[in-house]
Amino acid sequence: MRQIIIFLIFGITSFVYSQNNLIIPDTLSGTSFNLNLQYGTFEFYPGVQTNTMGTNGDILGPTLIMNKGDFVDIKVTNQLDDTTTIHWHGMHVSAANDGGPHTTIAPSETWNPRFTVLDKASTFWYHPHLHEKTNLHVSKGIAGFIIVRDEVEAALELPRKYGVDDFPLVIQTKTFDADKEIVVPSNSDSVVMVNVTLDALLEVPAQVVRLRLLNGSSQRVFNVGLNNNKLFYQIGSDGGLLSKPLELTRLQLAPGERGEILIDFSSAEGETVYLMSYASEFPNGIYGATNPGVNTMQTLNGYSPNPINGTDFNLMQFKVVSETVNPVKTIPTNLVTVTPLNESDADITRDITLTPVSMGANVLNGDFLINNVSFDMDVINYTIPLNNTEIWSITNQSPIAHPFHIHDVQFYILDRDGTIPPPSEQGLKDVILINPMETIRFITKFEDFADDEVPYMYHCHMLTHEDRGMMGQFIVVSTTDVKNGESETPEKFELSQNYPNPFNPSTAIKFSLKESAFTKIQIFDILGSEVATLVNEKRNAGYYEVVFDASNLVSGTYIYRIIASDFASSKKMTLIK
Ligand code: C2O
Ligand code: CU
Ligand code: CU
Repeated sequence: MRQIIIFLIFGITSFVYSQNNLIIPDTLSGTSFNLNLQYGTFEFYPGVQTNTMGTNGDILGPTLIMNKGDFVDIKVTNQLDDTTTIHWHGMHVSAANDGGPHTTIAPSETWNPRFTVLDKASTFWYHPHLHEKTNLHVSKGIAGFIIVRDEVEAALELPRKYGVDDFPLVIQTKTFDADKEIVVPSNSDSVVMVNVTLDALLEVPAQVVRLRLLNGSSQRVFNVGLNNNKLFYQIGSDGGLLSKPLELTRLQLAPGERGEILIDFSSAEGETVYLMSYASEFPNGIYGATNPGVNTMQTLNGYSPNPINGTDFNLMQFKVVSETVNPVKTIPTNLVTVTPLNESDADITRDITLTPVSMGANVLNGDFLINNVSFDMDVINYTIPLNNTEIWSITNQSPIAHPFHIHDVQFYILDRDGTIPPPSEQGLKDVILINPMETIRFITKFEDFADDEVPYMYHCHMLTHEDRGMMGQFIVVSTTDVKNGESETPEKFELSQNYPNPFNPSTAIKFSLKESAFTKIQIFDILGSEVATLVNEKRNAGYYEVVFDASNLVSGTYIYRIIASDFASSKKMTLIK
């Protein structure tokens, strides 16, 4: 009897505690997308309007669903009265299409990136990236998901019905002032929300459900788990699926990181399950732990007291309801083939340090440097040859963990302080949390896109740090000089005009070698993505005509590049269908 009474009291308590149905962003799919950045108001608290910023609405933005291989055309119109940018976090696009701090969109202007989706199926996101204002624009509400699909993923038995058994969840914490306006920047972020819903409740079917988790917070790290340490399965990291589902009870997500997980609710109909952050398990030195610095002397203004630092708290809850038609009921055994780059393939190792500007009690509120310098829009920190394979060895010499992020590429982690990373970190990544005094090495290849002018960024994804200069930039340059014209054409090699041009559906590239040479012919689209390799072998002296069949390609300008030994030349041609 007594047990029943206690049960009732608990039941009533949790019933009185108000739950809000999880907001699920609308989707946009196809190949042309219109995004309008705008001001809005949003009711985080019943009856109170908070000023916000959003994409195609008051806050957050639609989920963009893209297919690998599609050529997408995006129009981003800035209806704010502030300049901003939109960056496709995690996607492999040219620097000009990347939406970094140099690619600004002035008020009432429209920016029109167009690119081929080259990424593997995964969960990416878009957010503003204006230098010194990224935190403001993101915290006020601009952020959206990008789901890339591909044939490999489509062939797997995974949940993929958006909003039915496949849910995007952006986890954020924010600070509100007495008028319930969002405070930026702030270390007092105690309000937890998922898809901007406080105390969110989601009904899920009693089957395998897929969650695409994104930490969209400015600074806070989450240690995601289910109540009662219920198992879940990680299937993807930032840039793609893992080789097989990993059985886990915790998944750490730093700002900017994504993780796709499966939860098997098959035998849980009627139950309530909580998604939590087990922040009590964080060692000091992680934003979210009891102390954000490794040493208790190091404090952040406003960080304490904060009821969620160093404690376990709910992110949201699931109510398990009846299953859908054609439910996925099992966790697959295998996913995709993951082929990490080999350390021996690296052309170069870059040593990078993360340091505070000054030590002392206030260090965590200070500025941080990368290689002893603060970000300068006019300084290119690295010039990277196209197709370089590089190891970046990053040492955190500061007392707080930093989520390091790089644009353009996905990387593989070689080691953390010399130890191979946990399986969860063995897939493709674009953000990695580097603990205080730790060294992380990753390997990546800078492929496909070169641009002498527009740089890509690397930075700390704690937006307060990024805005205050914890960022650097690199350009990727083509090693062979492939400017137009015959000037580089030596006597040993002769390239004549291709014919016909314009063409449909095929044309031929004519060249002659006066002596044998390793010869390569690559075709690029106008944005610099390689669409074909026609020749890649040693050829004897002689005259050649190599046919380029474009019957599967869309109308437009293409560039062919021919390399013979050390000599390279490139030309434009036009496909008109
Ligand atoms: Cu998510 Cu450089 O950004
Ligand atoms: Cu990014
Ligand atoms: Cu940082």
